[in-house]
Amino acid sequence: MPDPISQTEYWNGDVGERWAGMQAELDRVFAPLTAALLDGAGLRPGERMLDIGCGCGETALLAAERLGPDGAVTAVDVSRPMLARARARPAAGAPIRWIEADAQTRAFAPEHDLALSRFGVMFFEESRAAFANIRRALRPGGRLVLLCWRALPENEWVNRPRDAVLGVVPAPAPPPPGGPGPFRFADGDALVELLTQAGFAQAAVVPVDRPVEIGADAEAATRFAVTVGPIAGLLRDLDDPALRERAVAAVRDAMPPAGPVRLGTACWLATAVNPG
Ligand SMILES: C[S@@+](CC[C@H](N)C(=O)[O-])C[C@H]1O[C@@H](n2cnc3c(N)ncnc32)[C@H](O)[C@@H]1O
Repeated sequence: MPDPISQTEYWNGDVGERWAGMQAELDRVFAPLTAALLDGAGLRPGERMLDIGCGCGETALLAAERLGPDGAVTAVDVSRPMLARARARPAAGAPIRWIEADAQTRAFAPEHDLALSRFGVMFFEESRAAFANIRRALRPGGRLVLLCWRALPENEWVNRPRDAVLGVVPAPAPPPPGGPGPFRFADGDALVELLTQAGFAQAAVVPVDRPVEIGADAEAATRFAVTVGPIAGLLRDLDDPALRERAVAAVRDAMPPAGPVRLGTACWLATAVNPG
């Protein structure tokens, strides 16, 4: 067995390139979730924000507009292709500093009013230490606001195409418990406990359930499902092109035959405060 690649290698390889290439599409699909996150963050003009795992920059850019010219955004990610995409996008409002760094260990100035993340905190090797590091980036009373996925069976946008693919290709070995992965914080109580252990106060989660349109028709929805996210991972290592084609056809068959494809999502909006 080859050694598993690190998250930095993972997000700097084919996966990061795909996310960068799909930026506009991903941000359109996730827009209802992004709105829930930004509304939940209660951004005020002039605040200083840290965006954890900022990817191609959507949340940093939208927050910068709300924070205005007196605010400031530090946006951190390990992925060069995704940061390159972020840097190339038009920006307005608060100045944004894009930083290529590991949010688990980077020594941030302890000056931020909030740390925010859209799906960027589930890939740490040492989650408790990483969250403690992020907490130290906050001023006393500063807040953490993040969005992460609940369990896979609750996320129709993943499990519908996944079930279709698994009718054709063998199921992968389950990821090691507590290891990096999109559904790692599916257990909201465990996430609250983890944030508390990392030194946060008032940690809490609330469910966010919003349907998203993953494509204007079955063809577009299939392209989205097999290009980014957990399904792309199932297909990536298939050497047999005919098998891959059958798996993609199975995903297409699992989509409604006509009209836009709207599927359910299930997230936690997690919040916590740095007691100082
Ligand atoms: C699922 S993507 C989400 C990206 C972006 N927030 C979005 O919503 O489009 C996860 C992101 O976390 C980043 N990431 C993973 N581990 C990281 C770490 N230790 N430090 C900083 N960024 C990290 C990845 O490079 C990737 O951009």
